Amino acid sequence: MSQATALQPLLAAGKRMESELVEFRRDLHRYPELSMQESETAAKVAEQLRAMGFEIKTGVGGHGIVADLAGAKPGKTIALRADMDALPIEEESGEPFASQRPGVMHACGHDAHTTMLLGAARILMEQKEQIQGTVRFLFQSAEEINRGARLMIEEGALDGVDEIFGLHNLPTLAAGKVATRYGSLMGSVDRFEILLTGKGGHGAIPDQSIDPVVAASAIVTGLQTAVSREISPFDPVVVTVGSLQAGDTYNVIPHRASMVGTIRTFAPHVQATMKERITRIAGQIAEAYRCKAEVEYTEMTPVLVSADDSVAHVERTVEEAIGADNRIEAAPTLAGEDFSLYLQKVPGCFFWLGSGPREGAERSYGLHHPKFRIEEECLPLGASLLAAIALKRLV
Ligand code: NI
Repeated sequence: MSQATALQPLLAAGKRMESELVEFRRDLHRYPELSMQESETAAKVAEQLRAMGFEIKTGVGGHGIVADLAGAKPGKTIALRADMDALPIEEESGEPFASQRPGVMHACGHDAHTTMLLGAARILMEQKEQIQGTVRFLFQSAEEINRGARLMIEEGALDGVDEIFGLHNLPTLAAGKVATRYGSLMGSVDRFEILLTGKGGHGAIPDQSIDPVVAASAIVTGLQTAVSREISPFDPVVVTVGSLQAGDTYNVIPHRASMVGTIRTFAPHVQATMKERITRIAGQIAEAYRCKAEVEYTEMTPVLVSADDSVAHVERTVEEAIGADNRIEAAPTLAGEDFSLYLQKVPGCFFWLGSGPREGAERSYGLHHPKFRIEEECLPLGASLLAAIALKRLV
């Protein structure tokens, strides 16, 4: 790590607790819990927070936890957020502390995020006398199903918050590095479901049937024209049909067909147009094929857009902590993150923390891969950076 800075004590505090952070993270990793089922994880977090002297609110938006650290003097409230849930994936990492629960795995590193935020809470508790204002720690349920942030906001987790920060580990970026980006960082997430009704019949007598399979096939390809013919090539959009179901056998035209898919965009004004496009294209293609289409369209999370002033603050803090050479500009991605919902309510910044090997990180298995793993040296750095980002806003 770099030159001596005013952040040195915070970095040193993170380093001192490294072995405890590693132990805590490995325990979460062994016993992962799916979205909205994080009761044991939340109990472990609550126990740690209480031991540090926090008064906490539990059961916020599922198993979420809200803990406030009021400093010596009044001032702004800065929120820091971590997510706690795991994924329905069978772990193949080969780690000695791999998941003990068949089919469930911390394949997105939320175990690491939870651990880092606890570390930050401990570091900041030690700095309590310096703090002018409040740090609010948000431990969130159900990020993977885009549900937890919405529920926490509904239950008042952001009330009184002036600014919010969060991070996500990234195994394809070397540990010790951070990636930031002004404006849009991650895509919006929408979900659509199309149910087609035709008229079933004998596979050899199509003229007496209305075939929803042919209509569904035309819709799958037709939907892509929403991207290629209706939206500017300078606005990224993804339309993916992830599931297509129809019929059971070779000689029967089924009565119904159904498909489920997702739409990703990178600009709020583009996301706002997608429901109309998908509904119109699916509906009118279905009509051309004499089928009836019912379209259900849900906007799950908005584009993740950080506030310029908050990004500048993170960049200054990161560069002071680890040196400008270790901060890079993040590439955009159309993967989604429900942190975007907090950013719709209050300004803030979301950034990437490297969790990959120092050499060859770009070849690492990515987020949500059964062989996903992290370099645990990112734990103390993440804890110290979160603490520094909050503290520098409150002194
Ligand atoms: Ni994640």
